[in-house]
Amino acid sequence: MSDRVELYDGAYENYDSDVYRQIRIETYGVDFGQTSWVTTEESDEIPRSLALTCDSSVLEIGCGSGVYALHIAQKFGCHVTGLDINALGIRNANQLALSGGMVQQVRFEECDVSKPLPFADKTFDAVFSNDGGVPHPGKGRPSHRNVPNPEARCGPDVIQ
Ligand SMILES: C[S@@+](CC[C@H](N)C(=O)[O-])C[C@H]1O[C@@H](n2cnc3c(N)ncnc32)[C@H](O)[C@@H]1O
Repeated sequence: MSDRVELYDGAYENYDSDVYRQIRIETYGVDFGQTSWVTTEESDEIPRSLALTCDSSVLEIGCGSGVYALHIAQKFGCHVTGLDINALGIRNANQLALSGGMVQQVRFEECDVSKPLPFADKTFDAVFSNDGGVPHPGKGRPSHRNVPNPEARCGPDVIQ
């Protein structure tokens, strides 16, 4: 039996390659750097359901390559923090934020969200996960309890 293979490493390390781009376009119709099972229609619903505005401070759990977080920050003017356990995803996301001049508005951190999150109370007023699929002890999904604002609006894949 071979060692465990981290499949997300390939997608995030080769984010820029033509073949991965082509797969994303053929799968989703648009390229948000996705590795998820979420359709583009479902992704498009997130900002509306969270009522995002330029005053929103948003947490994305399991942000992967970071492209969707950057997309909503550009489109709605909100501040976004993206967390993912995968170091290559976070590296890619931070490179894109830097090259896109978005570092004042969007930040990405490597973080295991099954553990308590390192943010002060009321840091975020909305939280979502685009198929974060993040295992949480006893639940199998990221829990709202880990988000440091009990009043935050919750998008898909986050347990209230
Ligand atoms: C199906 S991918 C979705 C990624 C991205 N949201 C998208 O739309 O493409 C699931 C993501 O959850 C991340 N993840 C899994 N377990 C995690 C954990 N415990 N903490 C943080 N992120 C985790 C993975 O590294 C992966 O990037």
